[in-house]
Amino acid sequence: MKDSAVKKIAVLTSGGDAPGMNAALRAVVRTANYYDIHCYGVREGYNGLIHNDFLKMGPRSVKNIINQGGTILRSARSKEFMTKEGRQTAYENCKQLGIEAIVCIGGDGTFTGAKIFNEEFGIKVIGVPGTIDNDIFGTDNTIGYDTALNTAMDAIDKIRDTATSHNRVFFIEVMGRDAGFIALNSGLATGALDILIPEKKDSADDLFANFLKAEKTGKSSSIVVVAEGEKLNNVYELAEKAKEKFPDYDIRVAILGHIQRGGSPSCADRVLASRLGYGAVTGLMEGQNCVMAGMRSNELVFTPIEEAIKKHNEINQDLLLISEILAI
Ligand code: F6P
Repeated sequence: MKDSAVKKIAVLTSGGDAPGMNAALRAVVRTANYYDIHCYGVREGYNGLIHNDFLKMGPRSVKNIINQGGTILRSARSKEFMTKEGRQTAYENCKQLGIEAIVCIGGDGTFTGAKIFNEEFGIKVIGVPGTIDNDIFGTDNTIGYDTALNTAMDAIDKIRDTATSHNRVFFIEVMGRDAGFIALNSGLATGALDILIPEKKDSADDLFANFLKAEKTGKSSSIVVVAEGEKLNNVYELAEKAKEKFPDYDIRVAILGHIQRGGSPSCADRVLASRLGYGAVTGLMEGQNCVMAGMRSNELVFTPIEEAIKKHNEINQDLLLISEILAI
């Protein structure tokens, strides 16, 4: 590889943690060290830039973490970094240490901070998409999504066991603040009767019509998967409405919550994280700036960070149709 455009970089994890962030960190640190680039970890996301919380990272500093959930650097949604004063202090700390570029592992909030910091102070930034929500444009999958999906699937399978034993209807909320990727795919994978996601216009009437259909075809228990960001109603409100309409139904609610954010990353997430961590460092070496490293059709691609934040991956409509057909 020809001369690197950067000689000293920092890496941080920010926003909601996601399984595979450690694998991405490991890839960044080891790729940088392999190419003789000084690499500093920043603790607690952007807070660490402001509080001068840097640690020099060599290859051994990331040993035995590829299989660990969470992030050894810890994470935060930094309020201080949202202020100009906070970012000014962060810049001064970076300047003092000679940091030329920062690898920012996180979601859209993380990338928004990175973009502003780059525009204000010229420190190079590169994003690595790490969020269970999969709501980042410029990559087919985000780091953590596959693991979260499998966690949700396992949990819903378990709920199905008890739902079947008691002839119950379960409304199950899965994570996804603004996006229904986890709901749609875990719902399809667990044979949900209905899947409610913010990307489609749902109605209580349609849901109730599905309950009636299920009754007619002899179903005695049902699972409805609801994305956290569903616009119609939250799970409790839906359960209440359903109870009013179907007083004989035995209805329960389960919110899977943060269990979806933890655990050892899946193989797919470890491989994705390794490729994107490597891609981020080599991208910086080749002069990339203010872009996000992503994987599209198994190829490393760089997308302007602004697009990664503003644009959205479309929900696959086929999956909705398939789930409806298979729920008869
Ligand atoms: O963005 C990831 C995510 O897990 C969302 O799905 C969820 O809405 C949010 O983070 C929860 O954030 P917190 O950990 O701050 O409660």
